[in-house]
Amino acid sequence: MHCFSFPTEICFGPGVVSQLPRYLKKYNLLRPLLVTDNVVSELPFFKRIINDLEKSGSSPLIFNEVSKNPVKSDVLKGRDAYQDACDCIVGLGGGAALDVSRAVALSINNRRDLFDYDDLIGGSNLITEPIPHFITVPTTSGTGSEVGRSAIISEDKSKKKRILFHSTLIAKQVFADPELTYDLPPEITAATGMDALAHHLEAFLAKGFNPMCDGIALEGVRMTWDNLESAVIRPDNTSRSNMMLASLMGAVAFQKGLGIVHALSHPLSTLFDMHHGLANAINLPYGLEFNYSSAPDRFDRLAFVMGLKQGHGVPESIRDLNHKLGLPASLGQCGVKTEHIDRLAALALSDFCLPLNPRSTTLEDLKEIYQRAMG
Ligand SMILES: [Fe+2]
Repeated sequence: MHCFSFPTEICFGPGVVSQLPRYLKKYNLLRPLLVTDNVVSELPFFKRIINDLEKSGSSPLIFNEVSKNPVKSDVLKGRDAYQDACDCIVGLGGGAALDVSRAVALSINNRRDLFDYDDLIGGSNLITEPIPHFITVPTTSGTGSEVGRSAIISEDKSKKKRILFHSTLIAKQVFADPELTYDLPPEITAATGMDALAHHLEAFLAKGFNPMCDGIALEGVRMTWDNLESAVIRPDNTSRSNMMLASLMGAVAFQKGLGIVHALSHPLSTLFDMHHGLANAINLPYGLEFNYSSAPDRFDRLAFVMGLKQGHGVPESIRDLNHKLGLPASLGQCGVKTEHIDRLAALALSDFCLPLNPRSTTLEDLKEIYQRAMG
């Protein structure tokens, strides 16, 4: 038996965030908790959104204490901010803010310790209480967290990543407005865009049977390949719109699974606070080279949508794209040193993304790949 699920309600288009006040009014939601980060909360568009909400009779409360790699205490502070004063949650921002907003939504009525709900220890079965009305508004094009049903939250001290996952954590409504990405600096557009590309590539190559995800992943690779360079170097409506769509499609596609690239990248964020998309950008060519022999036919299909002649050229083309986008080519350029490799590889081996990688992977394989990626 195979089960597929693509249920999120999405309103997409430039300016679509202006529909948010009317939407809240329709459901008689007057006191939204807006979960965001302290950069977004200072941007002009955020102030405009607050202004529009207030004009429509809403009394929004802002919670912006979200770490770059979110931790449990961020979620608990957000829950305290919600208390009895709010009647819905709007996650507005990049992946970190959206993950925290989803975890806050979980924690309002499900009152055990947050990590009792960790999916990897079977905690999803404990999520039995209702989730407040939950809406997401992405401001980056990369994680696709707006359409997801999971939140990755780290322990405060150890930084170990925990996964909160449940079908009720899907947003009731997504407002995907590409205009909100126009003010992002190019390096963030580049890194988040490479995260989206990694989602599509890894989902397409992941083990398992999910032709719907495969189809979305292939089209997502094409859209990212055709638009990311423009979105970074000479942004326009078309490229930013296509990247926002590719981003949310990526999170739909990776329901199928991810693989070694994400397994290599997660420890770099855990130990070095490295931007997730940047880590994926650097690791992608190396992870794909490692995987090529396990699925050459799939690489040929990727090559076709990327306009390349043969599948084995895919990793090198991604190196070229990183170069064009001004992203670093090696982990060494980001301060990672050879003496860190043993620790990184041990974490990568136990990463939740590794089991679905198309090629089985040993600790020694991971050490070798990190070594190559050092440059
Ligand atoms: Fe990712």
